[in-house]
Amino acid sequence: MKHLLNPLDFTVTELESLLKLANAIEADPSRYAHACEGKKLATCFYEPSTRTRLSFEAAMINLGGSVIGFASGDNSSAAKGESVSDTIRVISCYADICAIRHPKEGAALVASSRSSIPVINAGDGGHQHPTQTLTDLLTIYSLKGHFDHLKVGLCGDLKFGRTVHSLIDALIRYDGVEFILISPEELRVPGYIREDLLDANQIPYKEVERLEDALSELDLLYMTRVQKERFFNEEDYIRMKDFYILDKAKMELAPKDMLVLHPLPRVNEIAVEVDDDPRAVYFKQAQYGVYVRMALILTLLDIHID
Ligand code: CP
Repeated sequence: MKHLLNPLDFTVTELESLLKLANAIEADPSRYAHACEGKKLATCFYEPSTRTRLSFEAAMINLGGSVIGFASGDNSSAAKGESVSDTIRVISCYADICAIRHPKEGAALVASSRSSIPVINAGDGGHQHPTQTLTDLLTIYSLKGHFDHLKVGLCGDLKFGRTVHSLIDALIRYDGVEFILISPEELRVPGYIREDLLDANQIPYKEVERLEDALSELDLLYMTRVQKERFFNEEDYIRMKDFYILDKAKMELAPKDMLVLHPLPRVNEIAVEVDDDPRAVYFKQAQYGVYVRMALILTLLDIHID
């Protein structure tokens, strides 16, 4: 049985198969409409979500399966003190596959160790968000056609942003990828990402504070929200929250084929006026999230459509 806990749980070859399957689903969704008939997905969300939970649910429904679950720990027996380990043992009796989001790092790993069904990490604290990474990779693969030799700008909350950590982890496996890390000093990417991933693998990167100093060089700009829920101190959040605002004037500095991605939700970091720019692909990215989760469910349940 396979779980998805970390973006690197799939090899580069397995990942390519998954992305190709997602593209095939996008091209002909009706072919897959009954693939999961009789199967149930449990979505166990202890933290708020719009995209991840609903795209998982849409994915399973698109495959002809059903969905059970809870959208907040307060609506489950976690509110009575039940552990994640006990919850997953029970969910294993009710469902065929489970997507779990939890505020604690490592919660999905704990769940997988007690589960008799495949467990998907739908975000564990500030640690990893592998299905967002799969969504990001499918967006890049579908719109750029390759991962090699991309210069990728990551902007905003690089300290707590689990989507950023997962994306770096996934992209360093491809040749010639370079990063520009754009953040205020307080929200720099954590030391273990710089040292254990970037330095250890001799990946070229630079750190800058101003978005304007990076834009002209990028193939891809990955914007992120400053996450209020990860700050201990409201004053720090207020000081940081509008540090970056990508607007039309800044987009003028960027190459004509640079893509703008964002895992969403956004707050103020991308002005609404940018949404109509053809380079702004973050809503398309949310749609790719459904196709890649359909491909993931089929892969983890070992269901093949000839
Ligand atoms: N991108 C993402 O994880 O969005 P949600 O928090 O709405 O699931």
